[in-house]
Amino acid sequence: MTTARDYAQRRQHLMSHLGDGIAVIPSAPQARRNGDVEYRYRPDSDFFYLTGFTEPEAVAVLAPGRASGEFLIFCRERDPVQEMWNGGRVGLEGAVNMFGADDAFPFEDIEDILPSLLENRSRVYCNLGRYPDFDKQLLHWLSDVRTRRRSGVTAPGELVDLGCILHELRLIKRAPELRVMKKAAAISVKAHRRAMARCAPGMREYEIEAELEYVFRQGGAQYPAYPSIVAGGANACVLHYIDNRDRLRKGDLLLIDAGAELDCYCADITRTFPINGRFSATQKALYDIVLAAQLAAIDAVKPGATFNGPHEAAVRVISTGLKDLKLLKGSVDGLIEKGAYRKFFVHRTSHWLGLDVHDVGEYRLGDAWRVLEAGMVLTVEPGIYVPAEKNVPKKWQGIGIRIEDDVLVTRAGHEVLTDDAPKHPEAIEDLMASGD
Ligand code: GLY
Ligand code: MN
Ligand code: MN
Repeated sequence: MTTARDYAQRRQHLMSHLGDGIAVIPSAPQARRNGDVEYRYRPDSDFFYLTGFTEPEAVAVLAPGRASGEFLIFCRERDPVQEMWNGGRVGLEGAVNMFGADDAFPFEDIEDILPSLLENRSRVYCNLGRYPDFDKQLLHWLSDVRTRRRSGVTAPGELVDLGCILHELRLIKRAPELRVMKKAAAISVKAHRRAMARCAPGMREYEIEAELEYVFRQGGAQYPAYPSIVAGGANACVLHYIDNRDRLRKGDLLLIDAGAELDCYCADITRTFPINGRFSATQKALYDIVLAAQLAAIDAVKPGATFNGPHEAAVRVISTGLKDLKLLKGSVDGLIEKGAYRKFFVHRTSHWLGLDVHDVGEYRLGDAWRVLEAGMVLTVEPGIYVPAEKNVPKKWQGIGIRIEDDVLVTRAGHEVLTDDAPKHPEAIEDLMASGD
């Protein structure tokens, strides 16, 4: 579990980079679904990383060097009537006692208090552009400070992207975060195993979605980390297919891209398997290429390698495999150079994973791909998707295969957090035959 001390350390770490600036970090606004119904609330990832606080209507302020307290929270006050309808609130005292704030103020009072906190600070660190309504308020508070310059205060001269500092911290996952990520991964693995075991021709895609999300919730995960993709047959060639309502046909493959979000940390797994429990020779020929590409890409994950290393490894295996199957023609180097593989492998191999499913952190530094370091977590997810085009032999058309695992960079190399979800054809067929 992430302790109050862990959060305090993160704030200290961030504050050590702020100089005489101030950071203003709102949590996410509540989102209306329709009428007076709201989506289930999920805090802003930056705000959560620094506070662990999960209620809506909250803003954190980090003011390094402020004599009467550096960490302030604006949040909802206790309110017996509201709490009877909507559940308990932490309140101002709780923000101090449980969340380590030096001081806490009612959310409604931010208008009156925040401008004075900005006085005599040289910079404001914020996530400009993320929440436009909050941006407007912040700009208004800044102009408020400017109007008071005649009375001797100075106004911040710069607005700086908080992410430039904070997202570099978020990129390296430490032990408490990894514990949660491993649990999210384990729940997601269990869900994929259940989906494989329960899958049968004639079911609807949403029935499999229900199996997955049953396991997520049963395991304590609050939500799917993103809308689950359950794509039978040619639906797998639609990369973000989420309709999940077609019937599963016995000669087709099923691609499932689904992961749980546990305490705001995401897992992201894809498996592709035969609906009737046995790969056909055609399916297996393509599947083996994707699997070899994925294994080669995972092998390329180690400290000192670059972020692009796994992608380059996957591209080479896929280009070679597609040439062997005569889906591409020419020399492998030529095919790679021309990007011919992109007809079948349209996306990249990896993204960072953490509080956000496509997590924060730069992929390039200056002109170069960034170097992998212990504590980074990335997905490895090559795929082949064969379009229904007349110059492609019919037998391949409409096959979509992706295999995705979550990989932690360790000092010794890497650890695959999602390895227990079967991906070797025999292991998949065994699980589907035995039913667990
Ligand atoms: N599920 C989103 C992705 O794989 O990137
Ligand atoms: Mn995915
Ligand atoms: Mn992914």
